[in-house]
Amino acid sequence: MGTADDSGRERPIVIVGASLGGAKAAQALREAGHRGGIVLIGEEHERPYERPPLSKGYLLGKTPREKIYVHPPQWYAENDITLRLGTAVSAIDPAAHTVTLADDGRIEYAKLLLTTGSVPRRLPVPGADQDGVLYLRRVEDSDRIKAALRPGARVVVIGAGWIGLETAAAAREAGAEVTVLEAAELPLLRVLGREVAQVFADLHRSHGVDLRFEVRVEELTGADGTVTGVRLGDGSTVPADVVIVGIGIAPATALAEAAGLETDNGITTDEHLRTSAPDVYAAGDVANAYHPLFARHIRVEHWANAVNQPQTAARAMLGGDDAGYDRVPYFFTDAEWTPRHPNEPVASRDKLSMEYLGYVEPDGYDRVVFRGDVKANEFIAFWLKDGRVLASMNMNIWDVTDPIRDLIISKRVVNPDRLANPNVPLGEV
Ligand SMILES: Cc1cc2nc3c(=O)[nH]c(=O)nc-3n(C[C@H](O)[C@H](O)[C@H](O)COP(=O)(O)OP(=O)(O)OC[C@H]3O[C@@H](n4cnc5c(N)ncnc54)[C@H](O)[C@@H]3O)c2cc1C
Ligand SMILES: NC(=O)c1ccc[n+]([C@@H]2O[C@H](COP(=O)([O-])OP(=O)(O)OC[C@H]3O[C@@H](n4cnc5c(N)ncnc54)[C@H](O)[C@@H]3O)[C@@H](O)[C@H]2O)c1
Repeated sequence: MGTADDSGRERPIVIVGASLGGAKAAQALREAGHRGGIVLIGEEHERPYERPPLSKGYLLGKTPREKIYVHPPQWYAENDITLRLGTAVSAIDPAAHTVTLADDGRIEYAKLLLTTGSVPRRLPVPGADQDGVLYLRRVEDSDRIKAALRPGARVVVIGAGWIGLETAAAAREAGAEVTVLEAAELPLLRVLGREVAQVFADLHRSHGVDLRFEVRVEELTGADGTVTGVRLGDGSTVPADVVIVGIGIAPATALAEAAGLETDNGITTDEHLRTSAPDVYAAGDVANAYHPLFARHIRVEHWANAVNQPQTAARAMLGGDDAGYDRVPYFFTDAEWTPRHPNEPVASRDKLSMEYLGYVEPDGYDRVVFRGDVKANEFIAFWLKDGRVLASMNMNIWDVTDPIRDLIISKRVVNPDRLANPNVPLGEV
């Protein structure tokens, strides 16, 4: 790297965003043999942690707090990583190779990685800023929601996406009355399409969630500054002790935009995670990266992407002549409902354990093929276009992702009848 600052010190690699992506990048740099300085800066006060437990085990009180962190506290000192928590970066200057901290400090960098992630979209209606209206992104948000999920509490969830459905399941487990209000015709419609979205709707309804679709939220009603209900477009009001909002996220691009980096639904990068500015890289939720397999830019808002993309970015920052990031997108979700009869084992109908592989847009497929028993909630769904598998979701079925990944990567035309037949090995469809 060899670039020194005015006083002759070697400039560090600076990572902005001390979460999953940032911590994994620091780890990847050390594992790749980088001996120079690494500064990991984050505005949160917690050391880097993982968010999936916040809507699942941690929210349910089953996963203890010490299990959510990416690394143990001593790992940063042991690996000579300067961790600056509670520190927001307010500006970057790509020409001068500096980042400015909100407290006015300035750090010169040799290379800069932006893992600034994303922020929840706010509900744009009157009354949305009252007490009792909760969002879920950070661990303290999860703590607040956990405290509100009491038996008999009237919980209204706005948005039937991943946050909405996972918190709805947790709220039912806690014994709350749950109503989910969704603007679209079905939950998760944008990701799963009609055929599979219906399966999720049926599953949550069968566990006591009052799911309402095509609703328009007009206003959050309240008394003394605390929310009391949700008024809908048809004039009705759904009473609420607490309202949880999960209506999607926006990539945290403000820093990049202000610095003149190219952005378009995230920070635009090439397959090596290089942005439009020299020596500046981006990874994780915030990166809209060129993906060689799909021959286009895609932005992925999931855990595995924030784990894996930083490894490519780290190798690129160190000057490695490595292959670009071409992993097939992957994500998972889990929910489990306690059987209604004591001593009954957890059946598949009480379990939602799924993995999703691939990438498909709502109008990007022409056929869905199911393999297995949809009613028993043990199946694989495949999204196809022109006979080729673009994406899949295995529900309560395990150890199938390797052959499915091969199918997606090969782009070969499959026989839909053989694909639907569980007796035909996936490598022979
Ligand atoms: C409740 C919840 C549950 C989830 N469950 C799953 C799941 O089951 N499966 C799955 O695949 N994915 C899941 N996800 C998505 C997954 O957590 C994200 O894709 C992942 O966190 C993205 O990591 P990231 O490091 O890119 O960004 P983030 O996790 O968003 O972290 C970015 C960090 O950068 C910091 N930052 C931003 N701007 C600045 C600045 N200017 N200065 C300093 N710091 C800054 C932020 O404060 C934040 O700490 C879940 C997300 C949530 C919220
Ligand atoms: N298992 C997982 O992979 C997982 C779990 C939790 C969160 N996450 C991530 O967290 C982020 C946020 O999740 P999310 O569920 O908020 O986003 P999402 O994009 O998954 O879902 C948002 C939902 O809100 C609906 N909506 C939007 N505006 C609305 C309105 N005004 N009224 C009613 N409904 C409205 C949308 O139609 C959509 O169904 C995403 O990046 C997601 O990938 C992932």
